[in-house]
Amino acid sequence: MKLVSAIIKPFKLDDVREALSEIGVQGITVTEVKGFGRQKGHTELYRGAEYVVDFLPKVKIEVAIGDELLDQVIESITKAANTGKIGDGKIFVTELQQAIRIRTGETGTAAI
Ligand SMILES: Nc1ncnc2c1ncn2[C@@H]1O[C@H](COP(=O)(O)OP(=O)(O)OP(=O)(O)O)[C@@H](O)[C@H]1O
Ligand SMILES: [Mg+2]
Repeated sequence: MKLVSAIIKPFKLDDVREALSEIGVQGITVTEVKGFGRQKGHTELYRGAEYVVDFLPKVKIEVAIGDELLDQVIESITKAANTGKIGDGKIFVTELQQAIRIRTGETGTAAI
């Protein structure tokens, strides 16, 4: 199993959600986050120290999937979230050790 975390532009959330539903993703968790990438916002001097300002609002989508969906999930998110401009976001993939469906006690891919 994999846990896919995608940081995207907030206005792209609906497109990404639809694209993921179409390929059979069963559940999605969405969090409003702030972040910066390579442009790093700009830095500001405050009492002699440099602080990074300009955290930009982003949306983080988390999807737990079976390995067989990984390529499709990456492709769907990439297509749906792409504007071609800076700040389109990133996708991080991690191994997911276990999943438990609380109501039924099912585990592993059956729980997803
Ligand atoms: N290395 C990273 N680790 C954790 N989060 C990151 C990382 N890079 C980007 N992010 C998150 O993704 C968001 C969008 O990043 P962004 O698309 O600006 O990346 P980038 O590398 O600057 O690419 P681009 O040049 O296309 O803007 C950031 O605001 C941050 O929340
Ligand atoms: Mg950037």
